[in-house]
Amino acid sequence: MKVLLINGSPHQEGCTYTALSEMAAQLEKRGVETEIFWIGNKPIRGCIDCKSCWGKGACVFDDDCANTCIQKIIAADGVVIGSPVYFGGIAGGLKCLLDRVFYDAKRLYSHKPAAAVVSCRRGGAGSTFDAINKYFTISSMPVVSSQYWNSVHGDRPEEVRADKEGMQTLRLAADNMAWLLRCREAAGVEPFEREVRVKTSFYKPEG
Ligand SMILES: Cc1cc2nc3c(=O)[nH]c(=O)nc-3n(C[C@H](O)[C@H](O)[C@H](O)COP(=O)(O)O)c2cc1C
Repeated sequence: MKVLLINGSPHQEGCTYTALSEMAAQLEKRGVETEIFWIGNKPIRGCIDCKSCWGKGACVFDDDCANTCIQKIIAADGVVIGSPVYFGGIAGGLKCLLDRVFYDAKRLYSHKPAAAVVSCRRGGAGSTFDAINKYFTISSMPVVSSQYWNSVHGDRPEEVRADKEGMQTLRLAADNMAWLLRCREAAGVEPFEREVRVKTSFYKPEG
């Protein structure tokens, strides 16, 4: 069993990493393998809605980590996505990445348990947490919860480590992720067959 933890901060070992490391250590304690994947601090393209990915599960642009990220999520049993809060939302580079990583390939992530983690100095944790969870809940990914909404507060790793409640919340999220993965493994129950996807837009057809 393996959980992929995506560090969406431009800082390789900053606050988001510190939060994800707490989860990774707890997952390992429960016998779950982990990998923290840093998206880096080089430019990441946004989605241009060219639809080239449709049916392929891969982005046409192969000059950043989007396709690597897709493959890593497919290979993982569970996923954690961590972001610093930028102006009350997901950090720009990560947002660009997630739009492309989830646009078509989300159908390949069904039923993988997922959790969001956010790091902020002061405010905007809730809206950022909600925004990341949107990617999971459009992808049939069960959202793993905790005792609070997974956020830590700090501008530096040592401040995050001092956020005792935040760190405890992350350890419980990790335990709940490990528990869900064990349940899945033990039960061996396959998901139900899915209906063919219906897509309607919000307009009234003529006639
Ligand atoms: C462009 C920018 C915007 C930010 N906006 C917010 C914000 O809206 N709310 C907040 O509490 N912190 C904000 N911060 C601070 C970071 O979210 C915070 O320091 C975070 O813990 C950094 O995580 P990292 O070390 O993993 O990058 C912002 C930082 C930057 C660089």
